[in-house]
Amino acid sequence: MKKNTYTSEKNFFKEKSFFITNTYILVGHRCEFEKKGDYKTIDFFEKSIAIYKFKEKISAFTNKCAHRGCKIFSKAKGNSAFVCPYHAWSYDNSGRVKNIPFEKKAFKIDKTRIKLEEWALEFCGDFIFLKSKTNKISLKNFLGKEFDQLLKISKNIQKCIDYQVYKWGANWQICVENSIDEYHAIFLHKTTFKNVLKLEPKYEIKNNVMKMKMPLSKNYIEKFKKIKNYFNNLNNTYMHTLFFPYSSISSTMGNSYYIQNYLPKDIHNTNVTSTIYLPKSKLKKNPVIEKFFSNTCIKFNHEIFYEDKDICESIYSNVRNDNSKKDIVGNLEFRIKSFRKKLEKI
Ligand code: FES
Ligand SMILES: [Fe+2]
Repeated sequence: MKKNTYTSEKNFFKEKSFFITNTYILVGHRCEFEKKGDYKTIDFFEKSIAIYKFKEKISAFTNKCAHRGCKIFSKAKGNSAFVCPYHAWSYDNSGRVKNIPFEKKAFKIDKTRIKLEEWALEFCGDFIFLKSKTNKISLKNFLGKEFDQLLKISKNIQKCIDYQVYKWGANWQICVENSIDEYHAIFLHKTTFKNVLKLEPKYEIKNNVMKMKMPLSKNYIEKFKKIKNYFNNLNNTYMHTLFFPYSSISSTMGNSYYIQNYLPKDIHNTNVTSTIYLPKSKLKKNPVIEKFFSNTCIKFNHEIFYEDKDICESIYSNVRNDNSKKDIVGNLEFRIKSFRKKLEKI
């Protein structure tokens, strides 16, 4: 009988130290950081991390002021100066303290020695991946042959239309497993995926990249015809790729792109992030249709997320006190098997 890896504290701490130093998180796209001061935050284990656009570059730091530990950025996304709201300490693009109000009066410190914890960013085209500074694996090696494909997608993205952070009361593995479970999509998501997908998944698994493609339903293809001409290079598939273990990208037809992360907060809670993008298209010239299409994508996504949240929390409340893993995983949940196998090796 397999041990219950969801609720073993020992496993959780092992995973934590392994993933902090060995993995990448797909945090966003350059289009979200066009203006100086644009930022986005993610929560990863107990830390909040801010990705921030300085004049010269995009950088990432732990979102914790060196003075007394306040969060420098309190929102999930926004535009502001790199200044802590508590006592207005400000920071430069290397994370060093730039200005301390009433410095001479209040402190006897060498401010050049004070620095925020920095995270490394690597780019695949315009996609931004975050890793720990101690991670020596290059992004090209991490992504393998998927690198070029992803680079191409990144160049086709025009703008971000939504960023949400959800809090799910379930162990992160259950949340990831739900995201790579093709079997449920047409049953649970009655008002959304049921009308879109044909349950014939094809898989391609290579190291950290777990890819799935599925045909779209005739019905959806037919309905989409009305606005099809606004887009370039559409296909007739739904694709979903997991970058082991936390990040994924998915797309319906190439008409919209979704980046999701399932980031552990603690053993029982997961922060789920969702960013939605539109591709380059002629929609730009027709703001009314663009707005309508954007809202449809956002609504579609929100509905799915709330349904999935309930399921993940329901599974977790049932299994969190089990001592063994007794579930049955089939071929339409194929990636769950690959995911578990990979986790076992950690
Ligand atoms: S805690 Fe940030 S300036 Fe005091
Ligand atoms: Fe789902």
